Amino acid sequence: MIEEFRKRYDSVDGLRVYRAPGRVNLIGEHTDYNLGFVCPVALDLATYIGTAPNADGKFRIYSEHLREMGEWDIAELPHLGRSGHWVDYPVGVAQQLLHAGFGIEPANLLIRSTVPEGSGLSSSAALEVSTALACLNGRTLAPLELARLCQRAEREFVGMPCGIMDQYVSVFGREHSAIAIDCRSLEHRIVHLPDGITFVAVNTMVKHALAGSAYRERVQECAAAVELIQQRFPEVASLRDVGMAQWAEAEHLMPDVVRRRARHVVTEDDRVNRFVDACGRGDLELMGRLLVESHRSLQHDYEVSCEELDFLVDTALAIPGVFGSRMTGGGFGGCTVTMLKPSDVPRFGADIVKSYEARFRVTPQVYACNPSEGAGEVRDWRLIPS
Ligand code: GLA
Repeated sequence: MIEEFRKRYDSVDGLRVYRAPGRVNLIGEHTDYNLGFVCPVALDLATYIGTAPNADGKFRIYSEHLREMGEWDIAELPHLGRSGHWVDYPVGVAQQLLHAGFGIEPANLLIRSTVPEGSGLSSSAALEVSTALACLNGRTLAPLELARLCQRAEREFVGMPCGIMDQYVSVFGREHSAIAIDCRSLEHRIVHLPDGITFVAVNTMVKHALAGSAYRERVQECAAAVELIQQRFPEVASLRDVGMAQWAEAEHLMPDVVRRRARHVVTEDDRVNRFVDACGRGDLELMGRLLVESHRSLQHDYEVSCEELDFLVDTALAIPGVFGSRMTGGGFGGCTVTMLKPSDVPRFGADIVKSYEARFRVTPQVYACNPSEGAGEVRDWRLIPS
């Protein structure tokens, strides 16, 4: 990356490098914007941004992977609008930093990423958080504020009404652990993963066009469910407030589709808490079962799965050594996450690739999910992947 930087910008004077990881969510899907619970892992797949000051008053950002450059006068930054292009992520972040009172210095940036794009492993949050750190370039911003600022960039500038999970875990991720986030209090607990299991993500290699619009629709359906529940239980401010007992009394207040959406969220919050408890007890069977229940709920009630994801889950469940499997992330393509015995990983990888190829004529990528540390500066440049 250092050589690339020198080639592109002639000099590496003052170069600093920042890293922000992608994530795989173990359980708690579509619960974050309902202020509920999620349990993601930060991955060792990450976005790295090198930044060095320049003397020509520009803000430049080059994507190695896309071989594209965004370049603006610093004075232009506050006035830019959404372009519908990848540069919206860094520009959105720069504008949020300006709103928060941080000046943006003229600089040349270079992005290298190992997070596969559009895979549901949160390449956008990795890009947002690494951009924010590169723009801050050593100035302090409290970690929670960093995560919230990046979420605002995505909601307000990019126009995606996402929850806080992806940015949060990219900032707060922990090596060897998952983190259980309460998306209302914005506090988290470190969840030590039991011995004897590992997680593998498998990429469908598809992202159906529906993903963005369906996400918005689900956000609205959840808001509609809350309004209906409030007629009977005015104290309910979000689906997070509806416990399993209250749900039994509330569900008949809703028409079919809204009821199924809300049922997914209410039961998923419950599953996250049971999963975290099962993790603590080392109850591997129950952890696996909860993953599968989560998938079925996303498939039938929330309706954000697709043929490719269902196929990967069903195929995984028939492979020896697998405890459970589910789609992960927003849905309509992207990845599944599968919990299995470490010794069975090679066979699992070979079997799942073969079956998927036979069915869809596409080779799915398989990624080991190595829980890694959250975002920060990379001081040892030898750690930057080539
Ligand atoms: C996307 C969003 C997250 C979350 C998930 C679904 O990744 O960015 O905020 O809502 O979908 O759980």
